[in-house]
Amino acid sequence: TNIKFDTSALKQFVDENELKEIKPMLNTARDELLNGTGVESEMRQWMTLPIDYDKEEFSRIKQAANKIQSDSKILVVIGIGGSYLGAKMALDFLHDNFYESADSNKYPKVVFAGNSISGSYVNDLIKLIGDKDFSVNVISKSGTTTEPSIAFRIFRQLLINKYGKDEANQRIYVTTDAKNGALRQEVNENNYESFVIPNGIGGRYSVLSAVGLLPIAASGADIDQLMKGAADAQKHYMDTSLEDNGALQYAAYRNILYRKGYTNEILENYEPNLRFLAEWWKQLAGETEGKSNKGIYPSSANFSTDLHSLGQYIQQGMRNLMETVVRIEEPQSDIKIPVTGNNNDGIQYLEGKSMNYVNDKAFQSVIIAHTNGGVPNMVVNLKDQSEYSLGELIYFFEFAIAVSGYLNGINPFNQPGVEDYKSNMFALLGKPGYEDLKNKIEKDM
Ligand code: PA5
Repeated sequence: TNIKFDTSALKQFVDENELKEIKPMLNTARDELLNGTGVESEMRQWMTLPIDYDKEEFSRIKQAANKIQSDSKILVVIGIGGSYLGAKMALDFLHDNFYESADSNKYPKVVFAGNSISGSYVNDLIKLIGDKDFSVNVISKSGTTTEPSIAFRIFRQLLINKYGKDEANQRIYVTTDAKNGALRQEVNENNYESFVIPNGIGGRYSVLSAVGLLPIAASGADIDQLMKGAADAQKHYMDTSLEDNGALQYAAYRNILYRKGYTNEILENYEPNLRFLAEWWKQLAGETEGKSNKGIYPSSANFSTDLHSLGQYIQQGMRNLMETVVRIEEPQSDIKIPVTGNNNDGIQYLEGKSMNYVNDKAFQSVIIAHTNGGVPNMVVNLKDQSEYSLGELIYFFEFAIAVSGYLNGINPFNQPGVEDYKSNMFALLGKPGYEDLKNKIEKDM
């Protein structure tokens, strides 16, 4: 596999015996996942998706991506939460750091909307589009989520104003439920090209469905390789036992640590275009595990940047932290530090060395420092930033976090807590049906 999970820095924190102790419980959780004997087992369709996906739809996704590449300079991807983070994470991970501002002739710039309620953001995006040709991919399983619904209205109107209704309809790609919801109804009425978010796949597990695949393919990335990496990972992580299975080991160790009071996990990287990998992972872990008044709190840091800010807390703050580093073994490129013969800044000794060499020494030094400071460290070594490796990494985390959920006795596939604020917001906005709540809130204010 392209992933090597390394726990060598955990020696002072976890006893071998503790791994032995948790193994039977871990295996039970794994078996619940594999055999479908755990709660809400119908939501495990992501588990076999890399192999059992809709091949006809997959080729339509590629055709749609080709059409977008041929007639659009910009693709506006509208969605939030699980209908946003996977594609954003993958695009950043696979392309160079300034991809979004590169004016490439071959591939459209992929931008995101409907992931906040900021009017300024939408105005800025409209300005960015200017008179450029563009298309829209709206992604929503329910079809009624407030943020993407607002954005879709705005950008559909923009398309209609620019191209007229008929051509606008050809530039709208809808990813939603197969049968239900407002968006499916609009697909039927307007003949939009459409793709399916399968019933048995929740938002945070959906990146390898059309939700992630269309934006990723439109950006010029190779979705065949992405699926191949995930398919190989599926076979490996479903079939091997703890001793050879990095995903199970990750689930085991983070839960051993959690039970000893390390309740906050920081996902870290040393490559700026992995920032959204952590954002995606935070939703995956946080929505899966944070319920019944328990769960590891997922957070993130970007190194070496945050070593100059959060680094202080990690080194000496409250000792409830654990760190998981995603380390890229072969970064996308490298550059040498020029030889100048000048030592005013005290770094002449680094002249002629490569930046990746220095970055790696930073990585090693931080592990030693933080471990000595009382923070357990785990490392996910990933070979490179190819589509294949990303496919494997996605599966690694999805599998590990789902097992982790069953291990903690919660439902890994629901997210009831994200609904609570919405009723209040609907009441305050005056949505029909929320009058009583509105009165109650206003009386209490
Ligand atoms: O994981 C989840 O369920 C959420 O993050 C959803 O993905 C998010 O709210 C978007 O929902 P929808 O796709 O229905 O618009």
